[in-house]
Amino acid sequence: MLGQLLHLSGIDSVIIENRSQDYVIERVRAGVLEQPTVDLMIESGVGERLQREGMFHDGIYINVHGERRRIDMAALTGRRITVYGQNEVVKDLIGARISTGRPLFFEVSDVSVNDLESEQPKIRFTKESETREIQCDFIAGCDGFHGICRPSIPENHIRIYERVYPFAWLGILANAVPSSPELVYSLHQRGFALFSMRSNAVTRLYLQCAPDEELSHWPDDRIWEELLTRLAGSEGWKPNPGPITQKGVTGMRSFVAEPMRYGRMFLAGDSAHIVPPTGAKGLNLAIADVWRLSRAVAEYYRSGRPELLDRYSEDCLRRVWRAQRFSWWMTAMLHKTDAANPFDCRRQLAELEYVTNSCAAMTSLAENYVGFPL
Ligand code: DHB
Repeated sequence: MLGQLLHLSGIDSVIIENRSQDYVIERVRAGVLEQPTVDLMIESGVGERLQREGMFHDGIYINVHGERRRIDMAALTGRRITVYGQNEVVKDLIGARISTGRPLFFEVSDVSVNDLESEQPKIRFTKESETREIQCDFIAGCDGFHGICRPSIPENHIRIYERVYPFAWLGILANAVPSSPELVYSLHQRGFALFSMRSNAVTRLYLQCAPDEELSHWPDDRIWEELLTRLAGSEGWKPNPGPITQKGVTGMRSFVAEPMRYGRMFLAGDSAHIVPPTGAKGLNLAIADVWRLSRAVAEYYRSGRPELLDRYSEDCLRRVWRAQRFSWWMTAMLHKTDAANPFDCRRQLAELEYVTNSCAAMTSLAENYVGFPL
């Protein structure tokens, strides 16, 4: 997305990626886009398939011990969400990049970032056994939580805020017709479960599991039994089962690195911050970061003024911390904690009761869920 936004401002960039093109297109990840993300994709010319194939949702359901209540986000906020896989976004952006003819290299290795404090930082990498160097005006560290950019910042120039959760999500993709037109977030005595979808024929589901869960302990029958138990509504609703085509375990972490800049390197997305997945903010935050970075870089080339670059970290972190608070809150409200005392369990139920009955509480959830303007 950053490459596309820079291209639209007439700015050269080189994109390097250590995985293969097939890997990034096929790796299933989250799938909820905020309205500002959708608007930005459309405005920057990469929203055509999204507008055709995206599934527009006006609300979500919250199921508390079998009782399903709907939060009408469109009525409460005037905005809605779009279900469209993150890997589909990546596919559209790769297509757009290739059509610009600007450089995009997959399967690079031995990447290092160098001379970050200088006017001309450098990226070195290996592609097809050949060592290469890019001389840059700026480096954007969009290389994720496990990438090399953040660890290249000297420790005394970065501060880390972190919280690790005592559970994870086991996610599956199934060839099953979605039995609800909207997502269902569910808290059950056995733990959290989430019903989502990718198309009219594919359902995406998650269930709370242990952080070190072994996938081999989860044959398909056990997964379906658990999903049906945790998601079923007292009025008879349940997901349609079907053949499972993908399985994976996602860890849960809240993480922020501040500031999101060192010299001429700017961090964006997961390299600087991770949210737990409840509420689907990860991709949307990354998009907001690169939108801001593209504007700051374009302003610098247009006028020579560095003010937006200098404010980049502070401006991003306001949105990041708002999303951190929301994702932590959604996670705490909807997951079962073994360590919880009976008071905490009742308080959790009182919170869900409030959120599904009070217009003020529903509006608060909804405005965070659909996303604030960029
Ligand atoms: C999905 C993922 C989420 O984290 C979420 O909160 C809702 C939906 C999904 O993958 O569809």
